[in-house]
Amino acid sequence: MTQEELFKSLIAHAKEYGFIFQSSEIYDGLSAVYDYGQLGVELKNNIKKYWWDAMVRLNENIVGLDSAIFMHPKIWEASGHVGAFNDPLIDNKDSKKRYRADVLLEDFIAKLEEKIEKDVEKGRKKFGDAFDEPQFRETNPNVLRNKKKADDVRIRMNNALNSNNLEELRQVILDCEIACPVSGSRNWTEVRQFNLMFSTQMGSVSEDASVIYLRPETAQGIFVNFLNVQKTGRMKLPFGIAQIGKAFRNEIVARQFIFRMREFEQMEMQFFVRPGEELKWFEHWKKARLRWHEAIGLGESKYRFHDHEKLAHYANAAADIEFEFPFGFKELEGIHSRTDFDLSQHQKFSGKKMQYFDPETNESYVPYVIETSIGLDRTFLAIYSSAYCEEKLENGDERVVLKLPAFLAPVKLAVLPLVKKDGLPDVARRIMDDLKIDFNCQYDEKDSIGKRYRRQDAIGTPFCITIDHQTIEDDTVTIRYRDSMQQERISAKELRGIIENKVNFRNIFSKL
Ligand code: GAP
Repeated sequence: MTQEELFKSLIAHAKEYGFIFQSSEIYDGLSAVYDYGQLGVELKNNIKKYWWDAMVRLNENIVGLDSAIFMHPKIWEASGHVGAFNDPLIDNKDSKKRYRADVLLEDFIAKLEEKIEKDVEKGRKKFGDAFDEPQFRETNPNVLRNKKKADDVRIRMNNALNSNNLEELRQVILDCEIACPVSGSRNWTEVRQFNLMFSTQMGSVSEDASVIYLRPETAQGIFVNFLNVQKTGRMKLPFGIAQIGKAFRNEIVARQFIFRMREFEQMEMQFFVRPGEELKWFEHWKKARLRWHEAIGLGESKYRFHDHEKLAHYANAAADIEFEFPFGFKELEGIHSRTDFDLSQHQKFSGKKMQYFDPETNESYVPYVIETSIGLDRTFLAIYSSAYCEEKLENGDERVVLKLPAFLAPVKLAVLPLVKKDGLPDVARRIMDDLKIDFNCQYDEKDSIGKRYRRQDAIGTPFCITIDHQTIEDDTVTIRYRDSMQQERISAKELRGIIENKVNFRNIFSKL
């Protein structure tokens, strides 16, 4: 199965089992907007809890916030979003399809890189054990030619983007002879900037109504509340404010399922530090955030850093944590050293001081900020797509199993009476009623036990507890482990302890 086929299967599975639905499906859907179903919302809540507790509970100097989505429109002028939160767009005159100019070029570069990898694979097959990959990459003429081409295009694209040279951006597309995937033609319009913020009007009478925006990031809600939190919480630098919430962007190229959405959720933390100490804290948060990701247990090789070479005008360091999604390594989280840009801008635009009085130095200053910003939906996709497995079993059967980390699984255990008679359902209910106080459980008595196991595998339930006739005699049950499918006979009294040990957050937090 190709990665593309696998990706399609896991999207279909997400719908079939109530994880994710297309928004407004009965009206043919709303593009790049999704609803989380009965199991999706549980998984999402568990991810939120993992992030929130790791930030706010485990760090004594980080507190939470829940700011409103609507904010004063001047905030978005101050932050630079009104003026510069743009995507460069280009239309194909024949198909009338609209594209992001930089995405067309990035796809072109990705194809060149794919060619390089194919050549390397061919070399590996040809030379067998004697294959020297670094030497091959440095000397093979095809690899060198494609690498040079990719590097040249990337440099031209970045220069054009950084200098806002839209003519040059179009010229690179023409020089690369990029054709519209739909019409196949190279009949392109000019490149134009398109602002990504959604706007609406506040106020009941149209003359009084003013344009306001749906926030494109949660961060600004933190910045404008910096002093409220600092003063009322008697916070001393360095300290952080964390927030989870919705953000909205009118993404033109919205694709890859929940990877790029128009309405999504962010988990952001702004860490306020003394000027001059920001790069030390930047390194600290890079390490801390990677540890948080790795502790989930998807495999360390799935993550890598991408340090930004070209920095936004307000940043003096920036890095992404990239994850290996089914469509390749892509950004999952950004860690940015944002200097004092945001607080200074709000000071300027609001006319209110955004300074901190440092009792140690007896000075007042605008703090510097390290930001960690992670997409909740992308984290969901990373975890869900890594967990999705289609397995062939020894007996020839097949199963789809979600090998979700137990502490994040939406349902922790299923209670299954072997048959629907002989008092087994009553015993099963008693066990379920006791365990559901601690864990999210499902009760299922329908169909054969094998079918019920498959249903639980498909939603990632780590434990199935089977109640049979022996349970009535000696109060023992069978516990079946999802990944190994091994079964063990244990005393019903041991259940809570065994499950708790496997699903609690304590084991994970101790790794951070
Ligand atoms: N406050 C900084 C900020 O918003 P960003 O890189 O634009 O930075 C941070 O966004 C994270 O939000 C990204 O790393 C990504 O995980 C997530 N994100 C951004 N745009 C998204 C979209 N359209 N759909 C889903 N997640 C998105």
